[in-house]
Amino acid sequence: MTILDLLKEGREFYAGLDLDKDLDVEILLAFTLGVEKEYLLSHGEENVEAGDRDVFLKYLEQRANGKPIAYITHTKEFYGLDFYVDERVLVPRPETELIVDEVLDFLTGEEMTEELVKRAGVAEGVSEVRLPVATMLDVGTGSLNITTAVLKNFDNVCADAVDVSEDALEVARMNREYHDLETWVEVYYSDLLSNVDGREFDVIVSNLPYIGAGKFDTATDDVKKSEPHSALYGKNASAGSSGLDLYKKLIQQIVEKNVDFNLLVCEFGFGQVDGVKQLLNKFFDQGFQWEIKDDLAGIPRIFVVKKIK
Ligand SMILES: C[S@@+](CC[C@H](N)C(=O)[O-])C[C@H]1O[C@@H](n2cnc3c(N)ncnc32)[C@H](O)[C@@H]1O
Repeated sequence: MTILDLLKEGREFYAGLDLDKDLDVEILLAFTLGVEKEYLLSHGEENVEAGDRDVFLKYLEQRANGKPIAYITHTKEFYGLDFYVDERVLVPRPETELIVDEVLDFLTGEEMTEELVKRAGVAEGVSEVRLPVATMLDVGTGSLNITTAVLKNFDNVCADAVDVSEDALEVARMNREYHDLETWVEVYYSDLLSNVDGREFDVIVSNLPYIGAGKFDTATDDVKKSEPHSALYGKNASAGSSGLDLYKKLIQQIVEKNVDFNLLVCEFGFGQVDGVKQLLNKFFDQGFQWEIKDDLAGIPRIFVVKKIK
């Protein structure tokens, strides 16, 4: 049995299923054999051991049953970086990259650049130049994907990354180590801001669970079957029926606990823009400016709040 035989068998196995047959089959076979996808076509006549075929068939079956490919290969690309993922965390989504774009725009913008230069200045009586350090808080960090993408694209950001799931925190710590960010990122348990008091951050980011009920339950059956419900609906469905309860609580806590920020960027779901606008009008009508931005499909996807200086 050769590589080409198995590619053919894989495509036949998938016949009639609504999956990206060719790509999935290639990814799963390459993963089984521990090679790059490109290797498969240039080594089509190479023999494959029976044990590898069994493993490959097991993966095909898992995939056909709706398991995300990232949970089989334990890797997902986000913002051009590889992340370890498994069933303990949500698989990072491309639309979440919008949050990273927004944060990087802010950190490299005129206002923040001036601020960082000021912070880097030599304080009176101190001879060495201090590093300009921007600070960020990531609420509901999951695999640490947002924080990592920001820190790998902008030097000297210190981040606190929190999550209410101890399982997710373990994965976040694995990715922190893999990306060599231990010096720059604190990863710890916090139910929203329960362990974050009276702090000041340049940036707060959050992609909290926002799947609600009824028309706000936009998760597909496969997603519901495979991904952690605490990441989709929140622990004990704490995102509420509108899906926005956790954001409401987060914003209330930011205000009540005096957690200062200059930029707040959060992701929300399809059909929730009116609810989000109500929330922002209520909490950020003075001293802040906010806007809603669409994803590439033209769906309102993130809200961005900036403090007016
Ligand atoms: C939609 S996932 C996002 C994960 C990751 N940030 C991303 O963008 O892919 C939401 C994350 O928020 C966490 N979470 C849910 N409720 C929370 C809460 N009350 N406080 C902190 N984190 C929470 C979940 O455990 C999950 O890891």
